[in-house]
Amino acid sequence: MSGKGNETVTHRIAVIGGDGIGPEVISVALDVITAAGADISTTDFDLGGQRYLRDGTVLDDDTLDELRAYDAILLGAVGTPEVPPGVIERGLLLKARFSLDLYVNLRPFTLPDGHSFTVIRENTEGAYAGEGGFLRKGTPHEIATQGSVNTRMGAERVIRYGFELARQRERRHLTLVHKTNVLTFSGDLWERTFNEVAVEYPDVGTAYNHVDAACIHFVEDPHRYEVIVTDNLFGDILTDLGGAISGGIGLAASANLNPDRTSPSLFEPVHGSAPDIAGQGLANPTAAVLSAVLMLEFLGEAECAARVRAACEAAVSHDEVPDIGTDEIAKAIHAGLTDG
Ligand code: NAD
Ligand code: IPM
Ligand code: MN
Repeated sequence: MSGKGNETVTHRIAVIGGDGIGPEVISVALDVITAAGADISTTDFDLGGQRYLRDGTVLDDDTLDELRAYDAILLGAVGTPEVPPGVIERGLLLKARFSLDLYVNLRPFTLPDGHSFTVIRENTEGAYAGEGGFLRKGTPHEIATQGSVNTRMGAERVIRYGFELARQRERRHLTLVHKTNVLTFSGDLWERTFNEVAVEYPDVGTAYNHVDAACIHFVEDPHRYEVIVTDNLFGDILTDLGGAISGGIGLAASANLNPDRTSPSLFEPVHGSAPDIAGQGLANPTAAVLSAVLMLEFLGEAECAARVRAACEAAVSHDEVPDIGTDEIAKAIHAGLTDG
């Protein structure tokens, strides 16, 4: 519930369970936040690889317009080995990120020792933009290009978001991760923009790491990080690593934000549809639950979000790799709600 006085607001959530373990983890996430008292109404959207195999639908413009009417979108995972790579990933997930202008991909991590840091990944440009194509396809002289698109506007808005977030954190520290030593065009634009915006935030300390070195630091010295801002592809790769060092990919949550709230934001785990474990009750639903927590926070339901987050923290023992499945973890989170 939210609102002033006795007024309450029911948040309208569009739910895309998707493929593989997506529906398994999303059903836990919805159960948990409902049990925690979240005032939501949900509408299921049957989208993803399985829907595509049935009738060829990926994400048409009418459905996209329907999605715009919701307060938020909660997504499990999309993509399945039976569909060629990219059809669903680009046609559904990237189409939503780009069309809804979800330019901030927020991916927070908590290390086993309790240190938290957040990666802010640019979410609408870079190598993901779709620039490029084939020449002489299928011939011995075939050429494939896939350019990285970087605009001053796109870099600046996400960097600015990074400074604003860092300003709210304890150490007030922001690291730019890029590859300026090789990507002398896009890296230069990012670094210049970062340094120019930094002048407006004299209270925020800054650092720069090349992405390859950042991979070392993630494993050996992640404490140096508080907030990181980086481009789309580097952010994708770094955040799977972030999951791996933070107790596993099954714990990693993410928010695709439209900070200007001109369209609904989309919340989803960092992980994919995990076809290797789908349908076996093995998926860890915590990442999906924590993604729903990020959703509740963005919708202004801080209290409910905090209760669910605390229940997840209580359920997760970072010290041991839990040899338990989806149901057991779901039960442990529910128990944490009751205890809390
Ligand atoms: P993946 O994240 O699905 O799986 C990688 C590994 O992590 C697998 O071994 C899997 O079993 C494990 N894993 C993932 N989530 C887990 C969980 N909750 N609990 C326990 N183990 C978990 O990555 P992939 O195999 O490269 O991709 C599979 C499909 O998912 C592809 O089609 C890919 O495009 C898609 N994908 C979708 C999204 C999304 O929709 N947001 C994200 C990433 C990948
Ligand atoms: C992620 C996924 C997506 C990405 C794919 C499925 C398009 O890997 O959200 O991290 O690369 O952004
Ligand atoms: Mn990824």
